Amino acid sequence: MFITENPFSLLSETLPVSFIQAYVILMFVLVVGGTIIDVVHKKSAEYFFQNAERAKKNAKRQLSAGDKSSVLVKTIAEDVLTSGEFCNPNRRMSHLLGMYGFIFFVLSTAVMVFSYPTAGDATPVLWPLLWHLGAAMVVFGGAWFWFFIRVDVSAEGHAWNRLVRADLFILSLLATTATGLLWSFFQSVQSQPWATLFLALFIVSSAVLFGGVLWSKFAHMFFKPAAAYQKRIAKADGSLDMLPEPADRTNPADRDRHSMELLKNEPMNMGLGIKREQPHHY
Ligand code: HEM
Repeated sequence: MFITENPFSLLSETLPVSFIQAYVILMFVLVVGGTIIDVVHKKSAEYFFQNAERAKKNAKRQLSAGDKSSVLVKTIAEDVLTSGEFCNPNRRMSHLLGMYGFIFFVLSTAVMVFSYPTAGDATPVLWPLLWHLGAAMVVFGGAWFWFFIRVDVSAEGHAWNRLVRADLFILSLLATTATGLLWSFFQSVQSQPWATLFLALFIVSSAVLFGGVLWSKFAHMFFKPAAAYQKRIAKADGSLDMLPEPADRTNPADRDRHSMELLKNEPMNMGLGIKREQPHHY
């Protein structure tokens, strides 16, 4: 069964191992280079540290090292490992599938290409299984996102096939994993023309995915954890990103504010508000 076979060691019968390994190294270099250029070009790191400094000046509480480590642990456990920033459970589930699928796919690619590159190597079955499972998770989670969950489609009423530059990441990610799976299948059943076609598409789409970091949302996987940590710090130290404290109508000072007059006699819990109904009036 193709899902238990190392597709790269099969490929080494037609392409030199050094070529396959050089390609993977090139992709890695493109991601690192693209991320560094992105940070320098958009000045995002500079802004991030300026913002963190400003937050520190506006802090209402001094956080101890213990407070900061607990914020860090919460960020890792909730925002990074379990995609806790997504309120919509479908978005969260599709993101978890895409994120863990991609990690499985990248990790197993590196292990198979560098530790078990040739047909003679006995690849432990875990790695090809993880590679195929990871790719399938990305295809499933990514297609779910693309066709149904994406804001353009689910809230703005645009057709699923309308393309904008922001789609570069999700589409190249979907194309890489889908063509990778198809290439592996056709290579395994020795259907040479199809295997060659999907291998070529796999190479092109992965080059777009890893080479397009500067123009796509790829690098969010490195930036978002830092942003999520800073967001939690701003809440914990009371600087609140320069926003006002959330209004609390149980507090008489808040309740008697001019802007709250209309709500004075309203019940505390006023229901779902804009979350009552999914947008579909277009
Ligand atoms: C292997 C890693 C990851 C993959 C493959 C991945 C994939 C994706 C995809 C496909 C989207 C939708 C992008 C779009 O609108 O086109 C997305 C959005 C998002 N991701 Fe990730 N992600 C990864 C890691 C992370 C991490 C580590 C975090 C946070 C700590 C994160 C937080 C988010 C958030 C908050 C959004 C919504 C943001 C927005 O719409 O701008 N992601 N991710």
